[in-house]
Amino acid sequence: MSNLVALATSNTASTPPATLIYDDWYPAMRSDRLRGRQTATTMLLGVPLLLGRTRENKLFAMRDSCPHRGIPLSYGWFDSAHVTCKYHGWKFDPVTGQCADIPSLTPQDTLDCSRIYATAFPCEERDGYAWVYVPSPGSGRLRPEDVAALPPVPELPKFGPRSRSAHLMADLPCNVDHGTIGLMDPAHGPFVHQSWWWRSGKSIHVKEKLFEPIPQGFRMSAHAPSANSAPYKLLGVYGQPITTTIDFVLPNRRYETIRCGDKWFSSLTTVTPVTATESRIDVYAAWNVFYYVPFVLPIAKSFGQRFVEQDRLTMIQQAQGLRFSPSLMLIDDADRPAKWYFALKQARLHSASSGEPFEHPLTGPAILRWRS
Ligand code: FES
Ligand SMILES: [Fe+2]
Repeated sequence: MSNLVALATSNTASTPPATLIYDDWYPAMRSDRLRGRQTATTMLLGVPLLLGRTRENKLFAMRDSCPHRGIPLSYGWFDSAHVTCKYHGWKFDPVTGQCADIPSLTPQDTLDCSRIYATAFPCEERDGYAWVYVPSPGSGRLRPEDVAALPPVPELPKFGPRSRSAHLMADLPCNVDHGTIGLMDPAHGPFVHQSWWWRSGKSIHVKEKLFEPIPQGFRMSAHAPSANSAPYKLLGVYGQPITTTIDFVLPNRRYETIRCGDKWFSSLTTVTPVTATESRIDVYAAWNVFYYVPFVLPIAKSFGQRFVEQDRLTMIQQAQGLRFSPSLMLIDDADRPAKWYFALKQARLHSASSGEPFEHPLTGPAILRWRS
C-alpha cells in the first residue's frame, strides 16, 4: 500500500465503537425503495439485512444470510412470495423466515424443512420508513405472541389530516453516541449553523429552559421558541403564540413539535447505529404551516439539507479527532442533556442485562441555563 493510500484509508476510520441498545425499533430505510419485487440491503446495528415487500404489501426484513451455509440471501431471487437462496435453492417465507422447500431432499429424507428458519425480524411501515425491530443477539426466534407484545412502532405525531412532509438523511462517520448527543447539543447552533437565515454568533444570549423526565427520556417543556431565529420569526406571521416542545426518547429519537394555533410543524430525528462505529441521521418532518404557499417544500428541504450537512461535516471533522481516543468532557449546563442521554442509556442497558426494572435517572423537573 502506498503512503497516500494508507493516509486516505486512515482518514476514513471512524470513532471507537459504541455499546448498542437492542430490543427496539430502528428505521432501516425509506420504504419507497421497496416497490414490487425490488429488494434492498442495508445494515442495522451491524446486522446485514435484506428488505422487501410481499405480494400482500407486507414489508419484511431478513438477516441477509442463508441459514444453510451463510451466503447472503440477497444473491438469490425473490418472487413476491418467497426468497430463494442462490446456492442450493432453499426457499424461505420472508416474513416468518420459515423454510418452505429444500430442493435436494428425496422422498426418503425425513428432514422436515418447515422446522428450519432463516432469521426474520419484525418490520413495519410508518411515515415512509421500514422500521425493523432488532432483538438482542442470541435471543432466539420471536414467536407470534412475542411480536404481538412488542412496543409500538415509533410514529411522527401529526395534528391534523392535511400536511406536507419531507425526509432528509445523511451518513455519519461517528458512533451512535456522538451522533445522538449532537442532536441535543444546544451550544453548537450559533457556530455550526451560522447563516443569515438562522442566527449568528453575535445573537448569542442566555437561555433558560425547563426539562422534565418522560418515559425512557426527557422533555424540554413547551416554551416560546428562540426569538432570534428566522424560521420562528416567520411563524410569527400567524399572530398566535408559538410553543415548541422537544422530546428525547431512547434509543435514538428526538421529536420536535412547534404549534401556533391550528398551525403546526412536527419532526422526528433519529440517529441510527448502522454498525457500532457508524451511524445515520434521518429527519422526517410534517407540517401544515404555509400549506398553500408555493415552493415551501423545496425551500424547506434545501434549508433542512443544508442544516443536516453542516452537522454531518462537523461530525466528519470531529471523527478525525476522535480516532486518537482523546479524553473528552461534558460541562454543565450546556452538556447536561448529553449526560442525561448517557445515564438513560446506562439505565436501559443495566435493566436489560439484570432484568431489573428500568430506573429513570431524572428524578424530577430541572431548569438548565446556557448561552446560545
Ligand atoms: S447456502 Fe443457501 S441453500 Fe445452501
Ligand atoms: Fe446541529
